[in-house]
Amino acid sequence: CGISAYIGPREAYPIVINGLKRLEYRGYDSAGVMIYDGEKMHLTKTKGKVSDLEAITDSEPDRKIGNIGMGHTRWATHGVPNDVNSHPHYSQSGNLVIVHNGIIENYDTIKKELISRGYSFKSDTDTEVLVNLIEEVKITEGCKLGKAVQLALTNVVGAYAISVFDKTKPNEIVVARLGSPIAIGVGENNSEFFIASDASPFVEFTKNAIYLEDEEMAIIKLGKGIKVHKIMDDSRVDPTIQKLQMSLDQIEKGGYDHFMLKEIHEQPKAITDTFRGRMLHEEKIIKMSSIENHLDKFLNANRIIIVACGTSWHAGLVGEYLFEDMARIPVEVEYASEFRYRNPIITNKDVVIAISQSGETADTLAAIKLAKSKGAFVYGVCNVVGSSIARETHSGAYTHAGPEIGVASTKAFTTQITVLTLIAMKLGEANGSLAKHTFENYISKMQLIPRQVEELLKIDDKVKEIAEVYKDAKNCLYLGRGFNFPVALEGALKLKEISYIHAEGYPAAEMKHGPIALIDENMPIFVIATNRGHYEKVVSNIQEIKSRAGKIIAIVTEGDTTVKEIADHVIEIPDTEEALTPLLTTIPFQLLSYHIAVMLGKNVDQPRNLAKSVTVE
Ligand code: G6P
Repeated sequence: CGISAYIGPREAYPIVINGLKRLEYRGYDSAGVMIYDGEKMHLTKTKGKVSDLEAITDSEPDRKIGNIGMGHTRWATHGVPNDVNSHPHYSQSGNLVIVHNGIIENYDTIKKELISRGYSFKSDTDTEVLVNLIEEVKITEGCKLGKAVQLALTNVVGAYAISVFDKTKPNEIVVARLGSPIAIGVGENNSEFFIASDASPFVEFTKNAIYLEDEEMAIIKLGKGIKVHKIMDDSRVDPTIQKLQMSLDQIEKGGYDHFMLKEIHEQPKAITDTFRGRMLHEEKIIKMSSIENHLDKFLNANRIIIVACGTSWHAGLVGEYLFEDMARIPVEVEYASEFRYRNPIITNKDVVIAISQSGETADTLAAIKLAKSKGAFVYGVCNVVGSSIARETHSGAYTHAGPEIGVASTKAFTTQITVLTLIAMKLGEANGSLAKHTFENYISKMQLIPRQVEELLKIDDKVKEIAEVYKDAKNCLYLGRGFNFPVALEGALKLKEISYIHAEGYPAAEMKHGPIALIDENMPIFVIATNRGHYEKVVSNIQEIKSRAGKIIAIVTEGDTTVKEIADHVIEIPDTEEALTPLLTTIPFQLLSYHIAVMLGKNVDQPRNLAKSVTVE
């Protein structure tokens, strides 16, 4: 879910609504806004997107007037997405209002207790329980809002980012965080404040931001400033004001129809930015202080465990092939959600690499905490600077892909692979697994990748033609081997996510142990058959498919002749080392999914039921 709020001299509504639109990547089942006009609070909420909310407020413009506002865009956890369950939620007296991101796990016990004290509830949400708990504490303790929030939260089990407003004290907003991010934008001389799940809603107003840490809360008072406290013991914390690097054009579509398309096309630059300062082409060295400072940990590691979710997990799988091939270090790749609950065997000889675009994924964060508690060294690969995972890890590297807004991850994936490749090369060089000339050859080939991606993006029209032919398929198979097996998984995921066509990724040879039964003349099969990676084996797999009448769309290296003769369609990628091909083979799959989803009229940037940043487990 996403939170956006404002208090200051400006009209709050446009700020809150635009903020919510930028946060819709966090969920978009339902949306709501409260605007306080100096006397009354006006609450508007609805199932659907922020644009549905706007349609309602546009028909009743009075609801938009006022200088204090609080909005929410939701990804449902407790209670189906409907108008009543949407945030904000009032307390029983109607004095307090809250927006909440996260889950209150013990809400049922608290709810029963509140019901026994005469409270009744309109919604099924844990959030309405929380706001009433705050109200109950405020009344029984006779305290101010800040204290009531603090005391209430000490009774809560779960994860949250909340923003609370009390109309009887309308010059302040109280916020708190445990597990879900909160950024506070600070206006000049404390004349105005912006509160949001990330800084994107307020970049054009202020570059000064405070990020709350877990278990911290802030009382934000107009004209006075921000007081930050620890929730558990109420001790004061000195907040650090950070200067935002983000700019407005980074979070706008910049002429593209969709963020996803923009982000696909940003990949040459994103990969170059990931190299910047790390891969020194002329000197033929890789400089990564985050690795160099902990080189002994990596080189003496029993094994590397990679933890991640979704697309980042797929990048982790490519990482496994890279680390084992280049640095000869054993690697295991784990779904963070499985790892954290499996009572895994971890020792202080293990290195854990956590990969996350958002740096906020709840399961990945919990896996990191578990690994740390067992003494492992934890290294983060994140895109969002200052994110929870970036802060929780012992060391790490940012991917520097720039904000990724489309829910289907594209440039985050390729830049994660880029970082992993650099680390694998660095470690391989350091422990002698990569001979000097091989290492240097990789640097030269890596250096060419952004240009090659750029070239590859020009095949858009060809991919469109293929998309047109297969857009009505009900099922698709994606096959690859070695380094490109994870790319097959990622290709299938991209198609599923945004076009809702069922797709499965498989190691090409494994196909004959099951999926081959599905093959008939209606089944499109996307096969990665690059020239150096088990090429003959993949060609045999393609023959097996062809003899069962399946349709083959093959990704081959330029100049290929054998596959061209058998396949129904081929897409050529420029030549590179096999270990680097995932950075290229993934591009046609991204474009293909994009075009199919557009042709089918699906919402590419905000596919149903998904969210970009999953801060619940
Ligand atoms: C969600 C997103 C995916 C993403 C996954 C992990 O499911 O929709 O695109 O891969 O979370 O997110 P992370 O931010 O940790 O990479």
